[in-house]
Amino acid sequence: MFDRVARRYDLANHLLSFGRDFFWRRRAAEIVAEWNPACVLDLATGSGDLALALQDKISRAQIVALDFSSAMLALARRKGVRHLIAADAAQLPLAEQSFDAVTIAFGLRNVRDWAAALREMRRVLTSAGHLLVLDFSLPPKPILHFLYRFYLRQILPFASAIITREKEAYQYLGTSIEKFPSGRAMCDLIEASGFQNAAAEPLTGGIVTIYTAENARHPEGSRGIPQRYP
Ligand SMILES: C[S@@+](CC[C@H](N)C(=O)[O-])C[C@H]1O[C@@H](n2cnc3c(N)ncnc32)[C@H](O)[C@@H]1O
Repeated sequence: MFDRVARRYDLANHLLSFGRDFFWRRRAAEIVAEWNPACVLDLATGSGDLALALQDKISRAQIVALDFSSAMLALARRKGVRHLIAADAAQLPLAEQSFDAVTIAFGLRNVRDWAAALREMRRVLTSAGHLLVLDFSLPPKPILHFLYRFYLRQILPFASAIITREKEAYQYLGTSIEKFPSGRAMCDLIEASGFQNAAAEPLTGGIVTIYTAENARHPEGSRGIPQRYP
């Protein structure tokens, strides 16, 4: 499915998010930069937009981007992502404790076993390493929640069918967003997978959330962004 949508993936992202996706990835890169990592792994990198934002923001760090779609990886390479690996995020061909930060944007939702994937991310993180998950979420405010569901069910599949000619993929997108844990539930899943101090920063009214967590207790206490969900 991702190989099929690759050609029009960026255009669909920018149009269907009304250009907000640039801001979401920039914010994610800002947060990772605050951790001052030497080595970052961007999983499910797709066409590489988060990896590129990280390369720009943290120029001294090595950014390694991984995906299992060869068409997406080819796109990422053409756009300037320097270090690419073709592999399954659920079974990383990487040594334990080899990265200071692991990021995954709009990718965890697509992996079959979320908790197993999070445990695999933790395996490759250094003991003081950080996790960042950026993904769609359901807005907590009832009116926005209703409008967003309407958009996902009634508008997104048709608009995206016109842009990508892949209606099925975007029907899947709406369904996967509704099934994916949001806010506190996602923080609980992250902590149940072995991380600490999971925190959520909702963006754009909560249609997207950045989750951060630490692999081990940081000596200075939590450096996660403040929890804004009750
Ligand atoms: C929606 S795209 C997100 C791409 C990018 N991170 C972004 O922010 O635009 C999801 C990507 O996850 C990849 N993906 C899904 N499941 C994967 C897995 N188990 N292992 C590796 N990549 C996976 C797909 O090939 C696709 O490129």
